[in-house]
Amino acid sequence: MTGPDPKSDPQPDPSLQAAYDLDSPERVIRLYEAWAESYDGTFAAAMDYQLPARVAEAFDRAGGRGPVLDVGAGTGLVAERLVELGFGLVDGTDFSEEMLEVARRKELYQRVFHGDVMGRLDCPDDAYGGVVSAGTFTHGHVGPEALPELLRVALPGAVFALSINAEHYEAKGFGPAFRDLEGQITDLRLPEVKIYGQQAKGPHANDLGRVAVFRKA
Ligand SMILES: C[S@@+](CC[C@H](N)C(=O)[O-])C[C@H]1O[C@@H](n2cnc3c(N)ncnc32)[C@H](O)[C@@H]1O
Repeated sequence: MTGPDPKSDPQPDPSLQAAYDLDSPERVIRLYEAWAESYDGTFAAAMDYQLPARVAEAFDRAGGRGPVLDVGAGTGLVAERLVELGFGLVDGTDFSEEMLEVARRKELYQRVFHGDVMGRLDCPDDAYGGVVSAGTFTHGHVGPEALPELLRVALPGAVFALSINAEHYEAKGFGPAFRDLEGQITDLRLPEVKIYGQQAKGPHANDLGRVAVFRKA
């Protein structure tokens, strides 16, 4: 952890820039605690946030099957898109209880559970036929260290569709991390996507991401 104790920080002012500037898991949790109830409006709608749709479509096109685990599920925007595409059995995990509470109220997930993807998730080995994630592999959030745990909970042959912020991809060494997973994953593709749509404004309006699509070997 860097800097003073985040518990003594003033209540964070939720914004995309504040999210990108985070430097510890404690501060991530504090930010989403403050942001959960307004996230879908002040962030997703205001920024014309496209990643959940891009991730769900990539998962579907790659032949993804349930049961699906949505990692860093937040308020449930990926599940909204998956349900539109006909997926039924979706579980969601996140380490922000407040974000998960918003997701729970949408009644889209079969199971919603607290979990830190940088540690061990409360699921058995080989539990999921697919793993999706939008907006969680980004600045100040989750790095490639989480990939082995996601592979642990996936069935052999499971399809993954994980968005990764393009700058974060380079800064955190996702390229070498995927090379280190050679033999454990197959069919890796990394299409580039725009994170936000045409209505987005501000310095991050044109930010790019990749959707890492692959299978567990
Ligand atoms: C930008 S939000 C994305 C939420 C949702 N997937 C979406 O696209 O709207 C990032 C989410 O990742 C979660 N998160 C960050 N670090 C995490 C970790 N180590 N384990 C689990 N969730 C984490 C945050 O709590 C937050 O809900």
